[in-house]
Amino acid sequence: MVTCSAPGKIYIFGEHAVVYGESAICCAVDLRTRVHAYTSESVVIESVLGKTVIDFDTHPYVSAVIERMREIIPIKGVNIKIDSDLPVGSGLGSSAAVTVATIQALNHLFGCKLALEDIANLGHEIERKVQGAASPTDTYVSTMGGVVMIPERRKLKLIECGIVIGDTRTFSSTRELVANVAKLRGSYPEIIVPLLSTIGKMSHIGEEMVNKKDYASIGNLMNVNHGLLDAAGVGSPELSLLVYAARLKGALGAKITGAGGGGCMVALTDVASNRDVADAIIEAGGDAIITKATEHGVTVESEI
Ligand code: MEV
Repeated sequence: MVTCSAPGKIYIFGEHAVVYGESAICCAVDLRTRVHAYTSESVVIESVLGKTVIDFDTHPYVSAVIERMREIIPIKGVNIKIDSDLPVGSGLGSSAAVTVATIQALNHLFGCKLALEDIANLGHEIERKVQGAASPTDTYVSTMGGVVMIPERRKLKLIECGIVIGDTRTFSSTRELVANVAKLRGSYPEIIVPLLSTIGKMSHIGEEMVNKKDYASIGNLMNVNHGLLDAAGVGSPELSLLVYAARLKGALGAKITGAGGGGCMVALTDVASNRDVADAIIEAGGDAIITKATEHGVTVESEI
């Protein structure tokens, strides 16, 4: 049996802008999806969502990975069990994490010799197949770990301040939100094109701040990024409630992370005020997760 894990991620800057080729800074966080896999006579996939065979309704990503890997190497049967720290479909990259961890588990179990770049590319191909559209960001960061500038694929210094995630527990569809931004951009190109390009510039300015560990300045720019995402129509009252609650309790900065519309926000904090910021998020009606950045991308945890 092999156990592989892969992390979720937050956006420091750049969601939505990255869809138009602008830069984003993403950070892998210490919330992981683990995939336990062993060879067997048939395919069995087990998670909190249920126990199935290949099933594109219940386990679309894992099913797609198995079918795709069967084009590389014969796989008669495999038993896969998934457990995860990541809330599903809330902008923390849960689908990328399960995809990448499953690819690495099958890679090891069946000796496919895929390198990390191959895993990231295959992960992106699977996400595109299942979702219809996806940028390579989530699968790349989940594979490589750390803080990454996209699309440049440049590793930055690890973020060492506190990270508190607030989950609104409201569902949002990435596909719909990306389409809404595209519509707004089509209606008001003179306004929305520069808005997205300003977000991209924040990533470029932010790169030096990350490498200098200037978390106060990063926080200031994250607040501006939140305002621009709100202006682009991907905010929600619940997200803003959690963002303002975190800022009022002393967060260095707070913004939407991911597609928005619902899902999660993220706050950077001094580690000492993590608990206060988390409590403020809970009081404002959200779930709070205290976490930290991680250099560990997809990892083989054990092999027996
Ligand atoms: C979603 O997590 C991030 C978006 O930029 C879409 C994408 O990059 O695929 C909104």
